[in-house]
Amino acid sequence: MLRRSFLQQTTAAVVGTTLGSFATPSWAKRPLPAERHGRAHRLFPSDASAASGSKFAVATVHELASRTALDIFRAGGNAVDAAVAASCMLSVVDGHNSGIGGGCFALVRAPDGQITAIDGREQAGAAATPDMFLRDGQPQPKWSQTGPLAVGVPGQIAALQRMSKQLGRLPWRDLLLPAAEVADRGFLMGRLAKVVAANAGELSQFPESQRILLPGGKVPTAKTLLRQPELAETLRQIAEQGGEYFYRGPIAQQIATHLQAAGGILTTDDFAGYEAKLRTPLTTQYRGHRVVGFPPPSSGGIHVAQMLGMLELFDLRQVFQRDPASVYHLWLEVMQRAMADRAHWLGDADYTQVPRGLVDPGYLFQLAADIQYGQTRPVNGHGLPPEAESQFFGDKHTTHLTTADHEGWVVAMTQTVNTSFGSKMIAPGTGIVLNNEMDDFSIAPGVANAFGLIGAQANAIAPGKRPLSSMSPTIVLNADNQPVLTCGAAGGPRIITTTLQAICRVVDLGQPIDQAIAAPRVHQQWRPAEALIESNLDETIKSSLEQRGHQVRATGSLAVAQGLQWLGDGQLLAAADPRASGTALAE
Ligand code: DON
Repeated sequence: MLRRSFLQQTTAAVVGTTLGSFATPSWAKRPLPAERHGRAHRLFPSDASAASGSKFAVATVHELASRTALDIFRAGGNAVDAAVAASCMLSVVDGHNSGIGGGCFALVRAPDGQITAIDGREQAGAAATPDMFLRDGQPQPKWSQTGPLAVGVPGQIAALQRMSKQLGRLPWRDLLLPAAEVADRGFLMGRLAKVVAANAGELSQFPESQRILLPGGKVPTAKTLLRQPELAETLRQIAEQGGEYFYRGPIAQQIATHLQAAGGILTTDDFAGYEAKLRTPLTTQYRGHRVVGFPPPSSGGIHVAQMLGMLELFDLRQVFQRDPASVYHLWLEVMQRAMADRAHWLGDADYTQVPRGLVDPGYLFQLAADIQYGQTRPVNGHGLPPEAESQFFGDKHTTHLTTADHEGWVVAMTQTVNTSFGSKMIAPGTGIVLNNEMDDFSIAPGVANAFGLIGAQANAIAPGKRPLSSMSPTIVLNADNQPVLTCGAAGGPRIITTTLQAICRVVDLGQPIDQAIAAPRVHQQWRPAEALIESNLDETIKSSLEQRGHQVRATGSLAVAQGLQWLGDGQLLAAADPRASGTALAE
């Protein structure tokens, strides 16, 4: 017998409310039940690094990057300057996650409320073809993940320069030189040493990567001092000469020559033709808030909006009060519906038609209509959004960082070289870790990428096209257009679902951003049809999800998030995920 759907059960809560004008019911003033988390200490510390202040705030995944941002603020820089400087420092101290050989998406809010979306996503070379990762018709996922063919034209420096020129205050060179200095002087590797050890086999296939990261064939320790003089010189030259040095000068030449000699296809023309693009931010409504996300080639903005649109039907706070497991169940249900749409519809909107109807509230109500309280429902395929033939988006291992200041500048920025150390290649003489972002394309229909994601024609390879991304920098504003929170993460598709849970925890459950980020998470990406849960999720919640039919698999950290929250009294609260050793700072 079918149980009554959740939609029917909560109709009373929905009737009389319109999207974006959800009234706070009286029970909401009662305290929420405390969530129990198991074994957190064995996975990661249960508390986020958190800091509050009224002048400025920053959260990044590395202490040196957060400290650099603080120095820039103190020197009179705004949140854009601080983010650019922190980003460059991450290239040096956290190069396995992101760097100038990779790409990024940045959302920047100016004090007048204007939000700019800067797309520094990597791009396929002109010689790229849809079948470049097939041999005799058989997909070769290794080629899109490691080595010269995996590399897309990096977008990071173009995006940072555009941010700095258009929206920053301090001179460009001042933002790069601190990173150059640390690259030269060296720093203690800390957790990075473990990442090098875990990737030593593949890194050692590439002589320059081996020379820099595994000198003498020796695996580094946390106390190893990593000096990167070539990267220091690259950063210094870019500081003095700007992006030209990277895209039309010696760096493009050195990378293209090296990749071609190793069997790659990128040319100096591919570099010369690269530009960071301005996109139109994607703004949707959630419980009276404006949620600003990143449009394609990010999938994150659309999917966070889709999931929130479905959740709008449910009174999460009330549901949580009655049974916290039901909130996790609802999250998993909306995740699989959104992810089924991702696999079919999404790709670079400059190349493929991504329907605007994907975020239509009516469509999302329809997608959510079969969600039931007591059991999970299989999702057989993608939905059919309204006007899918006529209304489209577009004008025709990773890290998230965030900064804000009292003037009203806000940055939410996610940057990546894709998986740990990207292609595993460092172009000789440059110190630059080259990305493997080509693996974010769908190399053949139904063939999973490194994150198990499948895609379709919309995300097939084409010359000059940008691969679909899960990076989801997000800014949430209140009805007066004032910032409420920022969030974003690293972790492939888990970025999207992590961002969703952080927003719901702050907006629906009233939790501060540091708790919201630290709390255990769940993830469902439609294929494979399994519910991933972090292993410190409470056992009773886990059993409850299993009873509802979810194929539950426990895992360690799902994603690493950073966020900011405006506390309403002029105070900014910054939070860095306890799952990594990030640092939040504020003054
Ligand atoms: O853009 C994307 O979706 C991926 N390249 C992100 C990779 C990632 O988050 C790896 N982090 N752990």
